[in-house]
Amino acid sequence: MKKLFKILGVLLIIVVLFAAGGFIYLQAAFPKVSAAPELKIEPTPERIERGKYLANSFAFCIDCHSTRDVSKFSMPVVPGTEGKGGDDYGEGAGFVPASNITSDKETGLGNWTDGEIFRAITSGVDKDGKFLAPMMPYALFSKMDKEDLYSIIAYIRTLPPVKHSVPEKNLKFPVNLIFRTIPADVTEFGKRPDGLDKIKQGEYLGLGCKFCHSPSEKGEILPGMEFAGGMEFPLPDGTILRSSNITPDKETGIGNLTRELFIAKFKSCLDEKTLDPKTRGFNTVMAWNFIAKTSTDDDLNAIYDYLMAQKPVNNKVEKITLQGLK
Ligand code: HEC
Ligand code: HEC
Repeated sequence: MKKLFKILGVLLIIVVLFAAGGFIYLQAAFPKVSAAPELKIEPTPERIERGKYLANSFAFCIDCHSTRDVSKFSMPVVPGTEGKGGDDYGEGAGFVPASNITSDKETGLGNWTDGEIFRAITSGVDKDGKFLAPMMPYALFSKMDKEDLYSIIAYIRTLPPVKHSVPEKNLKFPVNLIFRTIPADVTEFGKRPDGLDKIKQGEYLGLGCKFCHSPSEKGEILPGMEFAGGMEFPLPDGTILRSSNITPDKETGIGNLTRELFIAKFKSCLDEKTLDPKTRGFNTVMAWNFIAKTSTDDDLNAIYDYLMAQKPVNNKVEKITLQGLK
């Protein structure tokens, strides 16, 4: 018996040593990302305008990095909070507040170089090389055209400084270890399509749509389930909301949604009076109001063309479940 305890004791020590070794290794070896590039982005009026458009529409920067008004349908951005950060995107993984990306020198990006911001947005590490959680969708942004990323940076540099210290994130085990292994150097950036090919234009702009509308496991979209919906979003009131199937399947997707109705769904959220979640019957994280405010009809049409060119997937999604009452 004594001997057995001794063996178990030794085994336990070995296990603990291995775990500690693994922990130290992960801490020391990751994130594996190179130094920030030397960059000086000329803030031309064209760049600032293009960056403003993207950051306030399909790149969703201002949507996540501001205060959203949860009392209104589609949770519009509270005016004056643009870029100040603080809303929590942690969901199941812990507490992950969006950072302050205004030009404030102390609490925002005022002291970051263009290269450091570029590296954060595309490789997922902060000024000091510490990992960012993938709730900041840097892997998506690395698929954008460099020139568009420069435009976004030129624009966010113009955000008026807001002094707002965002608390540190607090991740649960083991995601705190997993997340630090994800940041990576980008070897190939995307290319902005020329606008003649509407489907390509829709694909380029629809990255964020794909992110929320495709079921995934460990960050990888399940093969064949692109845009098939069903991702869960727990809402503050305890309901679980799921993203819709937006493939052109006629029965369970948006195959019967005409172009006019698709665009009208966005535009109907421009009128503040229509943003009462009670009359809508539910509230949603889908940024209807945010997109409607800025996006051009040309871009919305291109996204519609792109979605209609997808493979229809039959996948019935239950939009809302009351938690615990299922
Ligand atoms: C889905 C929500 C979301 C979107 C969209 C998003 N971000 Fe973030 N971002 C976050 C969160 C959350 C963090 C904090 C991550 C962390 O602390 O690990 C963050 C962190 C950052 C940081 C690091 C700042 C710091 O102090 O460490 C920068 C820079 C940044 N985001 C810029 C952008 C830009 C520019 C865009 C648009 C191209 C964008 N973000 C889009 C959620 C988002
Ligand atoms: C933050 C996650 C998120 C993003 C980003 C997002 N959606 Fe959604 N979307 C949802 C959720 C959740 C729903 C279901 C609730 C609702 O209807 O608002 C939804 C619903 C929809 C619907 C309604 C479908 C129906 O059955 O009538 C359409 C159309 C749609 N989204 C298109 C898009 C497009 C196009 C984009 C990109 C511009 C996009 N979504 C980006 C989460 C998202």
